[in-house]
Amino acid sequence: MSAIAFATPRVARTDTPFARDVVAGLSARGKHISSTWLYDDRGSKLFEDITRLDEYYLTRAEIALLERHAPEVGALAGPRATVVEFGSGSSRKTPLLLAGLDRPGLYVPVDIAAQFMVESAHALKRTFPRLLVQPAIGDLRTLTSLPLPPLDWPWDPDTGPGRRIGFFPGSTIGNFAPEDAAVLLARLGRILGPGALLWLGLDGTQDPGRLLPAYDDREGVTAQFNLNLLSRINAELGGDFEPETFKHEARWDTHDRCVEMHLVSRCAQTVEVLGRSFWFAAGESIHTESSYKVGALRVQAIARIAGWSTLRVFSDEHSGFNAYLLQRDVTET
Ligand code: AVI
Repeated sequence: MSAIAFATPRVARTDTPFARDVVAGLSARGKHISSTWLYDDRGSKLFEDITRLDEYYLTRAEIALLERHAPEVGALAGPRATVVEFGSGSSRKTPLLLAGLDRPGLYVPVDIAAQFMVESAHALKRTFPRLLVQPAIGDLRTLTSLPLPPLDWPWDPDTGPGRRIGFFPGSTIGNFAPEDAAVLLARLGRILGPGALLWLGLDGTQDPGRLLPAYDDREGVTAQFNLNLLSRINAELGGDFEPETFKHEARWDTHDRCVEMHLVSRCAQTVEVLGRSFWFAAGESIHTESSYKVGALRVQAIARIAGWSTLRVFSDEHSGFNAYLLQRDVTET
């Protein structure tokens, strides 16, 4: 029997969060699209390549901090901890934290890029075969709960489930404006519960001479990562962007202390997305990401407002990258 395949025309859906965000962002006076959407499968792989670039010092700095300080986290956490990783991506740093813990019990990676996360979770399971791994698909901007084992507080190291540790590395919280970061930290605190620990990695480097190459590397990997967003819109939302008519740009905003990524139109043009037309003047840009660079005093103040006390600040001696070990207050905020 011969099978005849009929090609079904793919109609892009207009009612998904991605579709809504893109249409709203391209309709705004200052065009913008949330950096959340940079991470489709190809975007996640390109970001992984970025983390291995010479110019992108953030990952190397945090790996060194984890290698040095994970045992200290382990001593505070006690046995059988539940580790919840927010925005887990490739989970490359996770083994460094797990290696410092005493018989970690459960690992819950949370990410919006489902396929990439599940592949990474499988790889981790090969290194830690006794660890229970329970991936959860979630958008950090809206996440409010997770299926976690019951929480006993006051926490007893000899009985009951292990302590909860949030793992939020990679300066991902820097992709949120400081006021949104405080709201996010408070929400993560409610998800993890009283007494939980949190490893928070956040870059505080302020030198544009170091920052701009980190976000606009010689090989052009960051440019591909940024431009991939246009290809994603073409593939998933029936767009007709010609990515070569846009260029990647990294800008240091001295006032807000953040590196912005933009996609700048090289010419005047009209682009169609989901059957709607969007006009670009030559030189007009789509703002696709902000990476806020926040120093230690400000981070601790933001954490305090959000219901976390700072137990330790670990600083990289070669850059302004810091990691914070926070403890969730026992009373609700
Ligand atoms: C994931 N996030 C913390 C990265 C950053 O540094 O803001 C994403 C990135 N954008 C360009 N290079 C890396």
